[in-house]
Amino acid sequence: MFETLKEQAPDKIMLLAGLYRADERDTKIDLGVGVYKDAKGNTPIMRAVKTAEKQLWEQETTKKYVALIGDGGFHSTMADLVLGDAVARDRLAFAATPGGTGAIRQILELIKAASPEATIWMSNPTWPNHPAMIKNLGIPSQTYSYLDPQTQEVSFDTMMADLDGVKAGDVVLLHGCCHNPTGANLNKEQWGAVADLIEAKGAVPFIDIAYQGFGDGLSDDAYGTRLLAARFPEMLIAASCSKNFGVYRERTGLVIAISATPKATKLTQGMLSSLNRLNFSFPPDHGARLVTMVLSDDTLRTEWQTELEDVRTGMLKLRQQLADTLRQDTNSDRFDFVANHRGMFSRLGLSPEQVERLRTEYAIYMIGDSRFNVAGLNSTTVPVISKAIADVIR
Ligand code: LMR
Repeated sequence: MFETLKEQAPDKIMLLAGLYRADERDTKIDLGVGVYKDAKGNTPIMRAVKTAEKQLWEQETTKKYVALIGDGGFHSTMADLVLGDAVARDRLAFAATPGGTGAIRQILELIKAASPEATIWMSNPTWPNHPAMIKNLGIPSQTYSYLDPQTQEVSFDTMMADLDGVKAGDVVLLHGCCHNPTGANLNKEQWGAVADLIEAKGAVPFIDIAYQGFGDGLSDDAYGTRLLAARFPEMLIAASCSKNFGVYRERTGLVIAISATPKATKLTQGMLSSLNRLNFSFPPDHGARLVTMVLSDDTLRTEWQTELEDVRTGMLKLRQQLADTLRQDTNSDRFDFVANHRGMFSRLGLSPEQVERLRTEYAIYMIGDSRFNVAGLNSTTVPVISKAIADVIR
């Protein structure tokens, strides 16, 4: 039977990771997959997470199942982190999931079950797994413009013009912060205008928040999510702990669904529980438990926030260094946006051929759309990368 399978186009981020692994040049530089790396190129376990892990090892007495939707402590500590006091807790339904991707998947199935006709609107560009997953489930979709290719900033007017096509009951997918792949983000005023428009259309916001704490700080990064949560009767949130807690392989994510009425909340909760059962039964617990421990213990939480803040400010410094060096090397302000963007990624605006030359001639790996991982830079490689970029655009 397997002969009948169709060959699958590999995800471009995963494809690049494979090419990087196979490259034998010891000068190679990985600016591809979105994993945090320190100045030595390591992805350390965060200190507070390591401490929680030790405590858990000592305290945990059983590995029996928790609950289909995961642990209540995880739901409530994460609701506090993501939503602050924007919305009453009795309007929330939850499902712990294998990573943020798992949360997106469960939300897509929830949308399909609740409203099979709904169209999902995605930014163009977006994280490539968004359209891939939506297509795989056969859900109707549309895109809205997001990036001005000249400036690499948000093309807000065209975004709003495109979103004018949204119909009542459609779902609008927005990146909560640190837009992936562009690094260009909505400001507060723009969040307000998007909220007004989607509200007027009677659409449902769907927030993918995978980098909270990597942009402007934990609460600023949740600004848009909280603004919408305070205003909309219904809303969907996929939260990931992979990056901000560094628990990538533990697969730690959460669906938060906001409903308007107690009846709808109960139905949503039941559906999420059933979807978990149907797709994988119980979600992974280890990462979720570590996150809960870190968030609910003052000492661990302070230590985590301090380390996260170091990660964030370190990336901002690298952004500034790269922008300054590119300014010198290219004798232009073309790349100044790199310093203004936020999060783990920016798009340089290079052609696929230029990106390919960076890989083949300079062993510098970035995604074909010229997205690079800021955390893949360090103060030694910035000058090397900057020179190579200046060379390929000459
Ligand atoms: C990325 O965009 O590189 C990360 O979100 C990792 C992934 O799974 O694609």
